[in-house]
Amino acid sequence: MPERITCRIKRIVDEGPSARSLYFESDMRVLPGQFLMVTDYGEGERPFSVADSDGSRIVLTIKKMGPFSRRICSKKEGDLLSLRGPFGNPFTPRAGTALLVGGGAGIAPLYLLARELASAGGRVIVVNGARVADDLILGAWFGRLNVDYVETSEDRGERLTSVQLAGRVMEREKVSVVYAAGPELMMAALKNILRDIPYEFSFERYMKCGVGICGSCACDPTGIRVCVEGPVFGREQIEKLSDFGVYKRDATGARVYFKK
Ligand SMILES: Cc1cc2nc3c(=O)[nH]c(=O)nc-3n(C[C@H](O)[C@H](O)[C@H](O)COP(=O)(O)OP(=O)(O)OC[C@H]3O[C@@H](n4cnc5c(N)ncnc54)[C@H](O)[C@@H]3O)c2cc1C
Ligand code: FES
Repeated sequence: MPERITCRIKRIVDEGPSARSLYFESDMRVLPGQFLMVTDYGEGERPFSVADSDGSRIVLTIKKMGPFSRRICSKKEGDLLSLRGPFGNPFTPRAGTALLVGGGAGIAPLYLLARELASAGGRVIVVNGARVADDLILGAWFGRLNVDYVETSEDRGERLTSVQLAGRVMEREKVSVVYAAGPELMMAALKNILRDIPYEFSFERYMKCGVGICGSCACDPTGIRVCVEGPVFGREQIEKLSDFGVYKRDATGARVYFKK
């Protein structure tokens, strides 16, 4: 059941130079892929996936991007934030070998999913990718789980993208389901190599209300809302979308085309 809580930041951990994890004490129950609307009662409120949650704590992992995320990342332990949620449809666990593909901060919602799939006895392979190695986050978290974890950055080693590395994994493994979160162009490229493998992707669209009222997160042409019917969509929904991998909308509703 969604709620609004005002919560003290219990702990802050740097995840490399570009992101931070914020830990809160809370008994809020969150499923993998769900998100919270976060504000410090200053300007704006933004959606953030729950990276980890166990019934006694919630962890958000936030990349420093624009003014809002930088302001939240500059908070101190003991500061208060408002958390509203949890919202959205979670990932659907499936039997068999699961391949999880994350790009940049998109790896955050995949941690809770990996933890739950692995503790249910499933085989889990995680591909974590970023443009630069400094942006590869949460590797140590996955290292503590019973999962196979590989990572790549486009500035080191073989310079593979996460999609190229996922392709290599699928050449040697029989994958039953693919879950992904990250830049939309990454997910569009991933979709192209999946053929008949079931998949679920976590979407990001501009969100104002987070509860299905304002329509700012609606996708074209079906109008499905990322905050209510998403943020996790499966093949059947994604194949009907004309904006997937092409554009999203900004705060005014104007189209912002993804740069290839
Ligand atoms: C379901 C969902 C889960 C998310 N989970 C995470 C997460 O776990 N970690 C993380 O670092 N980021 C996450 N984001 C992105 C986050 O909400 C912000 O977009 C991001 O922090 C940048 O905000 P900014 O205002 O600092 O940056 P800006 O420079 O102002 O914006 C950068 C980008 O963020 C987009 N953005 C700005 N405001 C919103 C908004 N209200 N709703 C959606 N997009 C917006 C802009 O369109 C732009 O593309 C998630 C977004 C969604 C929709
Ligand atoms: S954010 Fe308002 S309908 Fe989704």
